[in-house]
Amino acid sequence: MAAIQTADPRLTEVVGDLLATLRGFIRKHHISHDEYRRAVGFMMETAAKGEIPLLFDVFLEATVDQVDSAGRAGTETSVEGPFYAPNAPLMKSPCTLPHRTNEPGDVLILTGTLRSVDGEPLGAAILDMWQSDAQGVYSHFNIPEERAPWNLRARVVADQNGRFEVQTWVPSPYQVPKDGPTGALLKGIGRHAWRPAHLHLRITHDTCETLTTQLFFTGDPWIDSDVVGAVKQSLIVTLDKHEDWADLQKRGFDKPYYAVSYDFTLPRLMRKAA
Ligand code: BEZ
Ligand code: FE
Repeated sequence: MAAIQTADPRLTEVVGDLLATLRGFIRKHHISHDEYRRAVGFMMETAAKGEIPLLFDVFLEATVDQVDSAGRAGTETSVEGPFYAPNAPLMKSPCTLPHRTNEPGDVLILTGTLRSVDGEPLGAAILDMWQSDAQGVYSHFNIPEERAPWNLRARVVADQNGRFEVQTWVPSPYQVPKDGPTGALLKGIGRHAWRPAHLHLRITHDTCETLTTQLFFTGDPWIDSDVVGAVKQSLIVTLDKHEDWADLQKRGFDKPYYAVSYDFTLPRLMRKAA
């Protein structure tokens, strides 16, 4: 059959290989017609429930991240996941993420510097943050109750020296949604649905490649068995507990808080020669 003139070479190559891989898989596992129809039904149900991003991100995004970031300099990347919402409120560092009155859990103060890999501070870089709360719930997506849409989400502008200081709340480990087809598939293959607690960060500056990453916490019970497989050793931090009474009073806190400092480095943008 003659090739269609407008065919995209990359698409032609990867789709051809994907189909060859799937056909080989069908032969290898003697997939029956009944199983094939169940797979089609599963994909239809996943789409109807709006879980396509969740399904792909749970099973495949960490591998895409590994492949796409191979050889990249600077802070290691991690997956974006399905719960990123663009255009969160813009706030200047130092700041506190939008939260409920009486936000439950422990306060966490995250500080650090944003630099390029050549060591230059990235003044006014933007640190886009999102996370689950202390009850393991993300704002913005299918929230059944009172959380504001931007709860614990903001785009924080670093100062002229690339420094940032953000007050948030320690997130909790959480289970990816279990009540739909993705959860049913995990259960069917004997896998749990837990992710270790993490902060999501997406750092942008007009001279650098965007950094999408996460920070995880030492001692988390799910750190070695993340359902998504997105934990990297260099992204695990230890939270320091602060309980000095005078310090708590000065900050207006009525219980101990946690703090951690982490410096992020971003590769310079690859500029094409003119
Ligand atoms: C998350 O970080 O929340 C996430 C990432 C990938 C799949 C599901 C959830
Ligand atoms: Fe997450």
